[in-house]
Amino acid sequence: MGVSMAKSTSILLISDDSGVSNAVTVALSDRPRVKLSAENRSVSSLNGAAVQMAAENDIVVFATDPGNKDDLTAIRALNAERGEHSIFLALADRDIPLARARALSDAGVDDVLPFPVTGDELGRQMEKWLQKAVGSRSGGGKEGAVIAVAQARGGIGATTVAVNLADQLLVRKNRFRKQPSNSVAIVDLDLQFGAVGDFLDIDPQEGLTQLATGDLLPDEMWVEQSLAETQGGLSVLSAPADFMPLEAINAKQIDTLVDALRKAHDYVVIDLPRALVDWIEPVVSNADEILVVSDTSVPSVRATRRLMDFYLADNPGLNIEVVINHEKRPMMLSAHHKEAARVLETKFEHWLPHDPKSARAAVDFGKPLSEVAPRSDLTKGLGNLARATAKRMPMGDRVSV
Ligand SMILES: Nc1ncnc2c1ncn2[C@@H]1O[C@H](COP(=O)(O)OP(=O)(O)O)[C@@H](O)[C@H]1O
Ligand SMILES: [Mg+2]
Repeated sequence: MGVSMAKSTSILLISDDSGVSNAVTVALSDRPRVKLSAENRSVSSLNGAAVQMAAENDIVVFATDPGNKDDLTAIRALNAERGEHSIFLALADRDIPLARARALSDAGVDDVLPFPVTGDELGRQMEKWLQKAVGSRSGGGKEGAVIAVAQARGGIGATTVAVNLADQLLVRKNRFRKQPSNSVAIVDLDLQFGAVGDFLDIDPQEGLTQLATGDLLPDEMWVEQSLAETQGGLSVLSAPADFMPLEAINAKQIDTLVDALRKAHDYVVIDLPRALVDWIEPVVSNADEILVVSDTSVPSVRATRRLMDFYLADNPGLNIEVVINHEKRPMMLSAHHKEAARVLETKFEHWLPHDPKSARAAVDFGKPLSEVAPRSDLTKGLGNLARATAKRMPMGDRVSV
């Protein structure tokens, strides 16, 4: 399957002491999203290439004797070149005098960890910095926009909209390098019938099962570890392979999950289940916008109206957009379009043409429409939807679509 995992935290260990190297390696051994590399020399004998390398890592760990002037000089040199979010951890004797610890911190060290250590103390000490590295890489206190996608009826195309909206929000400035400029997550909360994984050729993931089998509250670290990444750069949390009752996950967990997701991404697109379980409420109250995918038939319009009333009951200020799928924008609204627009108190602004050939190709290849049918009217319609959606969101650090 064409999947690579979400970005890991890179850690550079600088030490010529095998005891230190072993301890750090053991402390980080069970962590799936950590990439550890080692520079086998003392911090005071670093060359320019190693200093450069340090600048490219999220966390730099080194053993130091703070009484050694050369060490302090070397740490200052590292500090001068450090990456914007990088974290410096120094391992030093437990009984280090305060003044020396201060000198280390003045030189740019973020934390002094006592060494030697017993048991998993080092692992515990590093945990907080690993969390921090994940948080700052995703932009510190910044928050992304949350867009939830609901369906007026089964099979209307909600998952198609969710997946391709997420894809088009990525923005690839250079279409040859395919480097996404925004970080976008697509999350499949259609726990029982979710197909986001199939649409993107991603295996079912166990993250949501994990939430269902305990009271675990998913923080940013959990999010970083539980999402996979497509080759196109989309972060994905797919639904579990095994059947699970919708109530197995609780509202508090979903609330925490959405919060953690938005901290780690510019955009979070959520594919909702058809059922109105109680944890829909935290999704809705956290959402910047809900898209209801519908058509203009009477049953769909009625279902859309019911959904809108349900969402608005507790969130009167919520922005709800209706997306009409399987119909290209008409030159003029017919009588039944006008009646539907009246019932839904909206002007229909988003239309996606019926295009079974492109839709089928995307599903068959497990790729977004932008890749399998870039010039189709359906892809263009989804691009327009992404631009219009992005325009309504506060900009933050996002790249405009
Ligand atoms: N605009 C469209 N034209 C043709 N087929 C579509 C269109 N949108 C979705 N489909 C197809 O309809 C089927 C159901 O879509 P899906 O997104 O899974 O719906 P939902 O999530 O609402 O159940 C899929 O096979 C999909 O490829
Ligand atoms: Mg679906």
